[in-house]
Amino acid sequence: MSVNRRITTTVIQQRKLEKKAITMLTAYDFSMAKFLDDVGIDMLLVGDSLGNVVLGYDSTLPVTMEDMIHHGKAVCRGAKRSMVVVDMPFMSYQVSTEQAVSNAGRIIKETGAQAVKLEGGQEIANEVKAIVRAGIPVVGHLGLTPQSIHALGGFKVQGKEEQGAQKCLKDAKVLEESGAFAVVLECVPALLAQKVTQSIGIPTIGIGAGVHCDGQVLVTNDLLGLYPGFTPKFVKQYANLNEHVSKAVAAYTKEVEERVFPSEEHSFKISDEVLEKLY
Ligand code: KIV
Repeated sequence: MSVNRRITTTVIQQRKLEKKAITMLTAYDFSMAKFLDDVGIDMLLVGDSLGNVVLGYDSTLPVTMEDMIHHGKAVCRGAKRSMVVVDMPFMSYQVSTEQAVSNAGRIIKETGAQAVKLEGGQEIANEVKAIVRAGIPVVGHLGLTPQSIHALGGFKVQGKEEQGAQKCLKDAKVLEESGAFAVVLECVPALLAQKVTQSIGIPTIGIGAGVHCDGQVLVTNDLLGLYPGFTPKFVKQYANLNEHVSKAVAAYTKEVEERVFPSEEHSFKISDEVLEKLY
């Protein structure tokens, strides 16, 4: 059997039992998806963070179904082994259960992704159940849920007080009961994430949620230092590509202005015979 078999929900759930960490990164286009797939990342998230990172909005709220499907398709063309999870954008699952199932179905049919991700706990339990019943794997998302940024009052660590922590734990259990196969925990204290991780049977994937989660996710552009905007405390930059990009573009600009680029090496030839016939 091929070693490049697709990562499935069973593989992801098995990882929790084996205590083998799950790797997830965001991807928004074909080239990056292919890179990450080749390196062996388990799960590619077509996050609605594409609103900030790719489309230049200051939140994820304006992102549409069409945006997610367009980028989801590109990522799926690049991912042969990684599982592709596509975010359901703001207002694509909150209006009614029927609309949630129909939009989840569109994402899976039109992109070729293997799963969808929704933000929220108890309040979206019916939608999660209905989408799972339709045969579509669901990843939950708790803690700092950027689609509720106005209700949360800003980008703040969630679950520091007892009430918020209890809600996070309860919501994780509800998501598991509703059929989600994994849950992202964003921006919660590490020991709360550990408690959640120990209390549910499905894997937790943390972002700003400490080392005790079953897996980790980051926005790839943050990890690579390839985003000109704000970088949160929980991001570790493994490279500073901003600097490399600026240097490369400055060098190109100089060479074009000085007529050094393109040299013969980057140009095509025509014979004198053809050239002489031109008038
Ligand atoms: O949209 C996104 O990139 C996300 C991650 C931050 C988990 O939801």
